[in-house]
Amino acid sequence: MTQTPPRSHGRKSIAATLQPRELITPTPDLVAAWKAQAITLFPEAFPGPLGLSLTGKALQDGLWQMDAVFLREFGEGRHRNVDDTPAGGGAGMVLRADVMGRALDHARRTMPAAAPILYLSPRGRRINQSLARDLAAGPGVTLICGRFEGLDQRVIDHYGITEVSLGDFVLTGGEIAAHALLDATVRLLPGVLGNAASIEEESFATGLLEHPQYTKPAEWNGHAIPPVLLSGNHGEIDRWRRAQSEALTRDRRPDLWAAHTEATKG
Ligand SMILES: C[S@@+](CC[C@H](N)C(=O)[O-])C[C@H]1O[C@@H](n2cnc3c(N)ncnc32)[C@H](O)[C@@H]1O
Repeated sequence: MTQTPPRSHGRKSIAATLQPRELITPTPDLVAAWKAQAITLFPEAFPGPLGLSLTGKALQDGLWQMDAVFLREFGEGRHRNVDDTPAGGGAGMVLRADVMGRALDHARRTMPAAAPILYLSPRGRRINQSLARDLAAGPGVTLICGRFEGLDQRVIDHYGITEVSLGDFVLTGGEIAAHALLDATVRLLPGVLGNAASIEEESFATGLLEHPQYTKPAEWNGHAIPPVLLSGNHGEIDRWRRAQSEALTRDRRPDLWAAHTEATKG
């Protein structure tokens, strides 16, 4: 027996960190809103920080929608168990295939088929700007937030789920990684950022890291702003910023630099 999972809705007032459950009440889908679903044992974690600032305003304005699907509601028996011991033995518990399967089938009923299903997992391909761009260009995403030792492999295989990772470290659950991926994606949706030009200039937009930024005061603790930035010569400023971006990328991220030089060859 399943119940309607809790979901959040963009047109409510946002006091996200104060009362996150306020945003997780059953509501109809928003027409044309980019739609995020997170299957989780902690629906109160959503929208969390995504309910603040620009992503929060966009949620309130209905530019995107956040549905938290409570895995426990699809659990087994009186206690709604969602996990069991690993086949073959070993430490910890594993999220059951049948339980996650029910949650996924329920969630996907209200999701366009073109929206991918991603499992947040340290084994996955690294989350990057290009993934955020791809997701923002589609209708939405269903995210599976793992817990314990992770998810029964059969679910991943059966639904053809892609695993994506926040980095080479192990979190206790997928929720924080889901926040990061959703934040990176939602800010790319049309109308979310006030200044679309900032997307074009920031790190990774051109395959390079961003140049250093400065603001007032002109001198602080004996450190001056590089004079070129105060010269008013926009050609010089662009050249300086470009050179800084290239130098930073070459020094800090040889992998990005190699990809950039390969792409700009010829
Ligand atoms: C304790 S971890 C499980 C780690 C797993 N036993 C392993 O060694 O790969 C529990 C859950 O946290 C999430 N998680 C942990 N590290 C992550 C990372 N680097 N990126 C994305 N999700 C992560 C996943 O959803 C995972 O199922």
